Amino acid sequence: MTTDSQAEDSEEGVALDPWGSSTIADYRTLFEEFGIEVFEDLLPEVSDPHYLMRRAIIFGHRDYDRVLQAMRADEPFAALSGFMPTGDPHIGHKLVFDELIWHQKQGGDTYALIADLEAHSARGLTWEEIDEHAQDYLLSLLAFGFDPEEGTLYRQSEHREVQDLAFELGIETNFSELEAIYGFDGETDVSHMQSVVTQMADILYPQLDEPKPTVIPVGPDQDPHMRLARDVATRMRYFGVTTAYASFEAEPAELEYIGRAYEALEEADVRCAAAADWLEENAEGDTALNGAIEKLREAGQEPVRPRVRFLDRNASEDAFEALIEAVEGEKRVYDEHVDAFEMDHEAAEELARQVEVENGGYGFRQPSSIYHRFMTGLTGGKMSSSIPASHISLLDDPADGGDKVRAATTGGRETAEEQRELGGKPDECPVYELYAYLLAGDDDEYAQRVYQECADGDRLCGGCKNEAAEAMEDFLEVHQERREELRPKLEELDVAITPDRI
Ligand code: TRP
Ligand code: SF4
Repeated sequence: MTTDSQAEDSEEGVALDPWGSSTIADYRTLFEEFGIEVFEDLLPEVSDPHYLMRRAIIFGHRDYDRVLQAMRADEPFAALSGFMPTGDPHIGHKLVFDELIWHQKQGGDTYALIADLEAHSARGLTWEEIDEHAQDYLLSLLAFGFDPEEGTLYRQSEHREVQDLAFELGIETNFSELEAIYGFDGETDVSHMQSVVTQMADILYPQLDEPKPTVIPVGPDQDPHMRLARDVATRMRYFGVTTAYASFEAEPAELEYIGRAYEALEEADVRCAAAADWLEENAEGDTALNGAIEKLREAGQEPVRPRVRFLDRNASEDAFEALIEAVEGEKRVYDEHVDAFEMDHEAAEELARQVEVENGGYGFRQPSSIYHRFMTGLTGGKMSSSIPASHISLLDDPADGGDKVRAATTGGRETAEEQRELGGKPDECPVYELYAYLLAGDDDEYAQRVYQECADGDRLCGGCKNEAAEAMEDFLEVHQERREELRPKLEELDVAITPDRI
């Protein structure tokens, strides 16, 4: 069956385990340890940001800048996310629905998929259960405003192209990687592994016709999948593009030293040996420095000249020939690489991709991602589908939804008196989160007011919860009405609701 050993094995506080029960105790670790970047830094570049962005509920990203760039330049970009139909869709899923819909409204080519293969293999749900939940996810997504005519909906199990792509990507993915990333071991079943390459295919599918910036909005528990998808995307590429200063290959740290010597000596016709002399005199030693000096010495009187280098990774002979043809200006051709002396790095990247696509490759761009915070459960701790009181299902009877809010834990003080005196703790309050993530909608001023009144002691929990409960009842009522209005549309979707199975 499934193995979630990575969560236990991790020595650090944060384990990212897509099938475990990750709670993120410390978001900082995600930045420091996993290299996720801070979303706020990009906020000024987003025109008309979603409230989830404005309120830092979307807190992190990988390479989202290039998606924004495409958005601004009116160039093609895509957004995709997937839903494992293991239970009712709940208010936590609404964040992702909203993120997809927002990107669709910004002009993105938008995809939502039902991860039924993953639910069946990694979670052991029966197909009947999966079909029922799948419908509910799709219906809620439509009810919140996803446009199925503009966007694409599919189920993993029904999508032949995705399966074919998964198979291709599987060739570039090996078991020891899955072991390292997910803690898979000899007991892990093969279908679970297949669901991983299927997710890789989901993530890259928007680029099948044409490479384009793609954002995957997810929770940080999905980051291991993102890292693997980004790696695999690169591995599929025909050519690598690097920088070089002479005929030999060097590590990035060595290149940095050689670059320094070249800059310092630039006015003369710099020879490798002279650059080695300069480094010996002027740089402090480490292994990269020694490596650089050794390589320069070996190259002797060869001139130092910066260039971009195209490495042949997975290209056919024809594709490599086509690339050599396509490089303009002075070039030098070697067995497994070609050096171009009159191109900058970015142009070289573009050319490599173009030649790849023209010669039968995918030319994938590394997919980008954005990460949202997990909502705290209404009972404190994690919001979990398996603890009904901890979350509000989008299908909950509105009165029950209201009752769950009234029964929620709060960041309030022991007594009303204390609360008036010290103020409540909105930052630790699941009810405040309901306002910020959902109930205040686009109204920042309202969310801000709740926060301030609470912190100032002008708001008491009883009244605050009542207000939230009533808003929740309205929200559920409106949403569920909209679902019923759209139910007949389900039949018209391209995605099969109850597929034929063996
Ligand atoms: N693994 C995701 C989950 O557990 C579902 C999923 C499948 C997905 N394919 C995806 C998410 C592609 C984002 C992109 O919910
Ligand atoms: Fe939470 Fe509202 Fe109480 Fe403040 S007043 S702690 S926001 S329930």
